[in-house]
Amino acid sequence: MNNNVFRNLSYGVYVVACECGGKYTGCTVNSIMQITSSPAIIALSVNHDNYTNECIEKVKKFSVSILSEDSNPLSIGTFGFRSGRNCNKFDIIPYNIIDVLPVINDACAYLIAEVADKIETPTHTVFIANVTNGDILNDKKPMTYSYYHNVIKGKSPKTAPTYIQE
Ligand SMILES: Cc1cc2nc3c(=O)[nH]c(=O)nc-3n(C[C@H](O)[C@H](O)[C@H](O)COP(=O)(O)O)c2cc1C
Repeated sequence: MNNNVFRNLSYGVYVVACECGGKYTGCTVNSIMQITSSPAIIALSVNHDNYTNECIEKVKKFSVSILSEDSNPLSIGTFGFRSGRNCNKFDIIPYNIIDVLPVINDACAYLIAEVADKIETPTHTVFIANVTNGDILNDKKPMTYSYYHNVIKGKSPKTAPTYIQE
């Protein structure tokens, strides 16, 4: 099996966030896909070890900040390589509140979603969520996962579903 075949699947780069235990928290993800348009439903895969997993499980509501090619790599790194268990990422990254959830200022669009169901895999939970709101914030080009790897030369940690050992 050629594991590099998975590099040929396409994704975007996002920050998912929720409000948990009186603070905002979240993480960088690439694993969001639209499941249906009417009703609007998305799926999101989150590693069991990520703090964001237990928070979304608890509060059942999250925002998706859709990042653009102009988004600051610091946003991706802060949300993607640190844990909300021991730091407050929203102290570092500027955000606005939309429908009581944080959307980072760096986003070109956002979605708000409510968890309706979940599927467990050995390492990740796949949350199935109804989209309750969403809008385009500017005309910047959404970042693809391949742009993140090939142009920004960004890396993904082991907890990302797409992780391939170098
Ligand atoms: C580009 C990128 C994509 C990622 N995609 C995912 C993903 O789809 N699902 C996931 O569980 N973690 C993903 N991660 C890893 C989490 O963002 C990372 O483990 C984070 O530190 C978890 O933070 P938390 O403990 O506060 O939830 C990704 C990281 C990067 C940099």
